[in-house]
Amino acid sequence: MNTLNKRLKEISDVILEEDLNYIKLFSVIADYKKLLLEASGFILKNDEDDQNIDTDSGKALSPKFAILCVDDIMRTKRFCLGLYKAIKKAVSEKDGPVRIIYAGTGPFATLILPSLTRFTSEEIQLTLLEINQTSYNSLNNLIANFDFSKYVETIECCDAVNYHISKPEGIDIVVTETLQKALKKEPQVAISYNLMSQVSDHTILIPEEISLELLLVDMDKSRANKTSMGNPIEYYKHVGSLYKINKKEISKYQKDFKNNQPDFEFPEVKVTLPANANRDYHNISIETKIKVYKDQELLIGESGLTFLTRITDLNSMLQTFNSVVSTYQCSKNPGVQLRLEI
Ligand SMILES: C[S@@+](CC[C@H](N)C(=O)[O-])C[C@H]1O[C@@H](n2cnc3c(N)ncnc32)[C@H](O)[C@@H]1O
Repeated sequence: MNTLNKRLKEISDVILEEDLNYIKLFSVIADYKKLLLEASGFILKNDEDDQNIDTDSGKALSPKFAILCVDDIMRTKRFCLGLYKAIKKAVSEKDGPVRIIYAGTGPFATLILPSLTRFTSEEIQLTLLEINQTSYNSLNNLIANFDFSKYVETIECCDAVNYHISKPEGIDIVVTETLQKALKKEPQVAISYNLMSQVSDHTILIPEEISLELLLVDMDKSRANKTSMGNPIEYYKHVGSLYKINKKEISKYQKDFKNNQPDFEFPEVKVTLPANANRDYHNISIETKIKVYKDQELLIGESGLTFLTRITDLNSMLQTFNSVVSTYQCSKNPGVQLRLEI
């Protein structure tokens, strides 16, 4: 085992710990980022190598922004641990290698590396997809320096929204983290639909479920909750579900999605607000709920992906809105479209 692999093993052991020791995790994620930069030799030569890519299904983050994702500590932990647990289950149930597609690897394939310290290449085989050439080059260097090429079945610089899987029936896990809060701008939905509509029923999708929920928020109580050291203070009221992405939903809409790609609008959802919402709450917000796998979930505000997205302020002096009508739209600029009705 070379020193890079030894360091990865030590870091992974902390990231994959069941118990959460935030201070220890904070420092180990900093070590992880340092190791990833070293192992990939990632150096940006000029700004041209660091552009976001605008696709028909959303924005692909530039290498610099993709690297910043590592610092989102709880995101990195929950995704790495959730993916590890999914692999462990799949390995225990399969004769022969578990085949994993990781779409949108960024320059490091951050989410899968800890699992590579726990499984052999006879147990897992990877298909790695990344649209950005600079990130793709970096990933190739990192794989060579960790001597991980034996784990790689396929590695391609391509758009995962149009990727055609060879032997899709043998794919056991699809993982992608190409999202921002409220599923805006990035192509998480389009990538998940393309890949999951090709594989069989047993395939695990990571994250297992992302859902957008409508909340009424009391900002005074929210501030009090942030500073309260004791029991959490309830500061919002859940008023309805707007949109979900999971295996069941994908199988329900996959035909319509394909027929309308890259522009598809999911059916409208109407949420009726309680009377006096404007008197009792300060704003309407969207919560992004992320269940990575089983018990690995990201709670409100734990990650940049789960910060609340404020839709509109409510004014107690003005007439309240009676309902919110929403749809999720896949397009060059994906996201929730909302209409407030009086
Ligand atoms: C949010 S970053 C995450 C990077 C890494 N997986 C992580 O979790 O740290 C998303 C990555 O997905 C890539 N990406 C976005 N859209 C893509 C697409 N349609 N096909 C392939 N890769 C894509 C971006 O270029 C970027 O590197």
